[in-house]
Amino acid sequence: MRSRTARSATFEAPPNIALVKYWGLRDRALVLPFNSSVSMTLDRLRSRTTVRFDPSLDEDAVELNGAPAAGGPRAAVVQLLDRVRALAGVDERATVRSRNNFPTASGLASSASGFAALAGAASAAAGLRLSPRELSRLARFGSGSACRSVYGGFVEWSAGRRPDGRDSGARPIAPAGHWPGLVDLVVIVRGAPEKAVRSQDAMQSTVRTSPAYARRLAEVPGRVARIRRAIRRRDAASLFPLVMEECDSFREVCETTVPSLDYLTSVSRAVLAEVRAINRAAGRLIAAYTHDAGAHIHVFALRRDVPRIRPRLRSLPGVEVVRLLRAGPGAHPVGSRPGVPRGRPR
Ligand code: PMV
Repeated sequence: MRSRTARSATFEAPPNIALVKYWGLRDRALVLPFNSSVSMTLDRLRSRTTVRFDPSLDEDAVELNGAPAAGGPRAAVVQLLDRVRALAGVDERATVRSRNNFPTASGLASSASGFAALAGAASAAAGLRLSPRELSRLARFGSGSACRSVYGGFVEWSAGRRPDGRDSGARPIAPAGHWPGLVDLVVIVRGAPEKAVRSQDAMQSTVRTSPAYARRLAEVPGRVARIRRAIRRRDAASLFPLVMEECDSFREVCETTVPSLDYLTSVSRAVLAEVRAINRAAGRLIAAYTHDAGAHIHVFALRRDVPRIRPRLRSLPGVEVVRLLRAGPGAHPVGSRPGVPRGRPR
């Protein structure tokens, strides 16, 4: 079906930080993970994406952060557009414009926000009216973690067991306003390298080669249940050690992958050491570090402890800025007017 006029839609979606990481696919084509994962959707950071299906175009034109996309990043976008075209019975090519208000491909989950926003904008522009569940499933095909960014607050992606994946999907654990006292101090480190290998390729090399991976898989379901419970009860004393244990487990399987995956810089490692020192000085865990496949470090804390923590993180050499984020809303449409996010909040 070809419509005569161009149709466009704009969506915004936030990144999320994984408290339990998705790392390893049991089915790559269907994007089905080996283990369930849990994340907090972040406020203030976002990707804004406009998709416009246009009968006058011969091929898709993709612009990411103001520059034309090529190679792998363009192919991943075109693949998701193809999926939307097949679902909607549309054969027009599209222009895609996407912009983040935070650094790309450096551990702030720009793939999650980017593909959640793309799935929303492309499906709306193609005339599909998807439920959050369907949108989350669609976003997952762009990047696994994007399925969680469709929802706000605290989100669990159940791995499921079925080979067809019908029992695998994201669902909210608690809404964005559930735990206002919990904050994420995002420590942006100077000179964070861009990702050399796509996460989906990196994680499969962990599955194949890390001797620690099987043990991790056995431990994760228990950790997911305990983290879910701690979030529901707003129990920082239970949550914080679990968040760091999970991060250490993720880092261990990355480091023991052949060839080794090392996402941290010396500054990132200094941040981890400082969090340990802060907790030693406090005599209990008042801060919990985690990181995804990137160099920036997320430090969870309670609002009341921020004055004891933030200045120490800020003063570390090589730390560019420490941003204070909370749980925020999920992906949403932004009317019909295409545009870009204003400013670069810090
Ligand atoms: O969604 P992807 O393919 O970018 O992989 C994300 C992997 C981690 O960020 C490291 C973990 C996670 O669950 O978000």
